[in-house]
Amino acid sequence: MAQPYDRVFNFSAGPCCLPVEVLEEARDDLLSYKGLGLSVMEMSHRSKPFEAIVQNAEADLRALLGVPEGYKVLFLQGGASLQFTMIPMSFLPAGGSADYVLTGAWGKKAIEGAKRIGTVNTIYDAKPSNYDHAPKLASLNYTDGAAYVHFTSNETIQGVDFFEDPAGDRDYVCDASSNILSRPMDVSQYAMLYAGAQKNMGPAGVVVVIVREEFLARAPESTHPMLDYRLQVENGSLYNTPPCWSIYVCGLVYKWLLRTGGLAERAKINERKAKVLYDAIEASGGFFKPHAKPENRSWMNVTFTLPSDDLTAAFLAEAKGHGMLELKGHRSVGGCRASVYNAFPEDGCRALADFMAAFAAKNG
Ligand SMILES: Cc1ncc(COP(=O)(O)O)c(C=O)c1O
Repeated sequence: MAQPYDRVFNFSAGPCCLPVEVLEEARDDLLSYKGLGLSVMEMSHRSKPFEAIVQNAEADLRALLGVPEGYKVLFLQGGASLQFTMIPMSFLPAGGSADYVLTGAWGKKAIEGAKRIGTVNTIYDAKPSNYDHAPKLASLNYTDGAAYVHFTSNETIQGVDFFEDPAGDRDYVCDASSNILSRPMDVSQYAMLYAGAQKNMGPAGVVVVIVREEFLARAPESTHPMLDYRLQVENGSLYNTPPCWSIYVCGLVYKWLLRTGGLAERAKINERKAKVLYDAIEASGGFFKPHAKPENRSWMNVTFTLPSDDLTAAFLAEAKGHGMLELKGHRSVGGCRASVYNAFPEDGCRALADFMAAFAAKNG
C-alpha cells in the first residue's frame, strides 16, 4: 500500500520513523511557530513560548505514563549513554556497590560506565544463551545493601524485553530507551527511569529522566554542574541551552499518543504489529529463526536469522527493492532486525510478513 509522501518502511532501530501527523505539524510550524514569526529552532530557550513547550511536554509525558507525585521529570543531553556515567556518579557511593542485570549490549555498556566509578555486582548475565532472554526480576539474587539495581527493560540489539515492572522495595533504575511509551508502566516501582528520545519519543538529542525525589536526595551536592541532577531539576531542564527542537518534537509526539488512545491503546497496536512478524517467522518452518525466547520477544525490535549469510544479503537487498529499509541486524547478533516502534505503521509489518513468506517459499 502506498505510503503518504512516498515514504519507505523504515525499520531503523533509532533514530527511526516519526508519526506522519507529527512531521506535518512540525513542517507547518517550521517558518512561523503559532504565528510568532520564527521557528522553534530560532527561539530563545528563555522565552515564554519555549518555556511553555517544555512545561507542556512534561505535563503530557506525566499524563501518558501516569507519573506519580514525588517524581521529577528532566530533559537532558548526552543521550542514554551519558546516564551510564551520571547514574553511578550520583548514586553509587564510595565503598558501596550497585547491582546490574545484564541481558544484552546496552546493559553491558551501562556496566562499563559504572565500573569506572565504583563496584558493580553483575547479578545476572544472560551470556551463556547469547542474550536471548531476560530473567524474572523476583528470581534474582540481590546484594544486601546495594545502592540500586540497574536493568535494561528492552535490549534493542537482541530484541529482548522483560515485560514486567519490578516490585518490592529495592531501588530499580531502568534504561527504557527502546520501549518507553510502548505500553503502560507502573512508574511508582522505579527509583529512576531514563530513555533516549530517538526511538519512541522524537528526534535524537534529548534523554528523558524520571526520578523519584527521595532517590534524588541521595545524589551528592558537589557533582560537576552539567552532571548534577539536582541542578538540572532546580533549573527545570534549562540549566544550559537545551536541545530545543528535540524537546518540541517530543511534545508533539506525546500529544499524538494522547489523542490516539494513550498507552493502553498503543500496547494493543504494538502487540498486534509484533505478532504479525513473529507469526511470519514461525510460519516459515524454520527458514527464519527468532533470536529471543517466546516470553521475552520484544514488541519493538524483532530479531531473526536466515539459513546463511548469502540468503541474508539477498533478503536485505530484495527488501530494499520493495521499500523496506534498515532491516540488517546488529553485527553482534547477525541476521535481521525489524524495529517497529510506536510510529511504525501496521501496514509495514504486514508488508514485511508477506515479503518474508514469499522469500521463504522461493528460497527455502
Ligand atoms: C536500550 C538502549 N540504551 C542506550 C542506548 C544509547 O542511547 P544514546 O545513543 O542516546 O546514548 C540505546 C541506543 O540505541 C539503546 O537502545
